Amino acid sequence: MPEPSTDWVDVGAAAELAREPLREVTAGAARIALSCVGGEFGAVSGVCNHVGGPLGQGQLDGEFLVCPWHQYKFHRRTGAGEPGYEADRVPSYAVKVEGGRVLVSAKPVTKRGHLTHAPHPLAREPVRAAGPIRVAGISTTMMQPGFPRYSTSEALLEVALTHAREALAAETQLIRLRDLAFGACEGYYSRAARACTWPCSITARDAADQMAVVYEAAVHWADVLLVATPIRWGAASSLYYKMTERMNCIQNQITTANRVLIRRKVAAFIITGGQDNVQAVVGQQLGFFGELGFVFPPFPFVAHSLGWDAEDMERNVAVVRGSETLREGARALAGRAVEAATQLVTSAGADTARLTLGSRGGRKAHGP
Ligand code: FES
Repeated sequence: MPEPSTDWVDVGAAAELAREPLREVTAGAARIALSCVGGEFGAVSGVCNHVGGPLGQGQLDGEFLVCPWHQYKFHRRTGAGEPGYEADRVPSYAVKVEGGRVLVSAKPVTKRGHLTHAPHPLAREPVRAAGPIRVAGISTTMMQPGFPRYSTSEALLEVALTHAREALAAETQLIRLRDLAFGACEGYYSRAARACTWPCSITARDAADQMAVVYEAAVHWADVLLVATPIRWGAASSLYYKMTERMNCIQNQITTANRVLIRRKVAAFIITGGQDNVQAVVGQQLGFFGELGFVFPPFPFVAHSLGWDAEDMERNVAVVRGSETLREGARALAGRAVEAATQLVTSAGADTARLTLGSRGGRKAHGP
């Protein structure tokens, strides 16, 4: 490694710094990932190439630092990326021990380098394509593959989508979460706000992650999301929560980048269950989708339950199957949602003042 042409910065006693294989130190204004393996120190920038993760707080994998946010790897002494990604490198610093002190060069001796990656398709700016109102229905019901059963919430969702398509001339798609292979949120936001990225870190690293279907529909394709859920123990289904946890990255763009991905879109809900808790379930849904930027039509949900005392699961499916009132309610919900979306889409140019009021989330109104 070339000798630095600039000054050295004393970062501490060698005996003390050798006790931990990896730590974060500062050398002047620079954050340094200082490692020590077999008595040999290495010093590279402590700021990851990806989205700035703290490399000095990660861990070692042989001679490579592993970023604690999304596990990118960089050589602990040269800063080069792992094999195959060598050009994706963080700056390295000269380091030496003199008089029992560890000295790090005040300036890096190699530069940061980025491998150019094609941007993920989801990363494109959301721009509404011309065309009819588009309605995406999301069914969050789980059932055994190959052995379908009647789902009351999904059945009403299908009624709503059929009405939107046939009577309201909307384009529609039905997304059944159970058909998608996607993992649970891995809690990047809990590591640091900026560690939760858009597109989601999981989707960005795994081309097979089918949460991309939901992201594409919610952020890019749909004007209306119709979300259908059964009630499970007084709450929405586990698949619903698995999906919404993964949608944190949409809201988080408002917090970390002042970037609102959801504009002029409508969400509405269909909730069914054997026991009552409809208002609590829809309350969570209104709160969550409201924070993403969705707006709601008047009377934004339809629901059915056979309540606590009168629960009767033997009759529940038959009641829904036979209820023209519920089907009419689902059709009317689709009508209100499409009408609201139509107003939002067609008023986008004329009413920009009102719409730009929504450019920043209210709950986290502070700057990034
Ligand atoms: S891997 Fe380091 S910030 Fe993402």
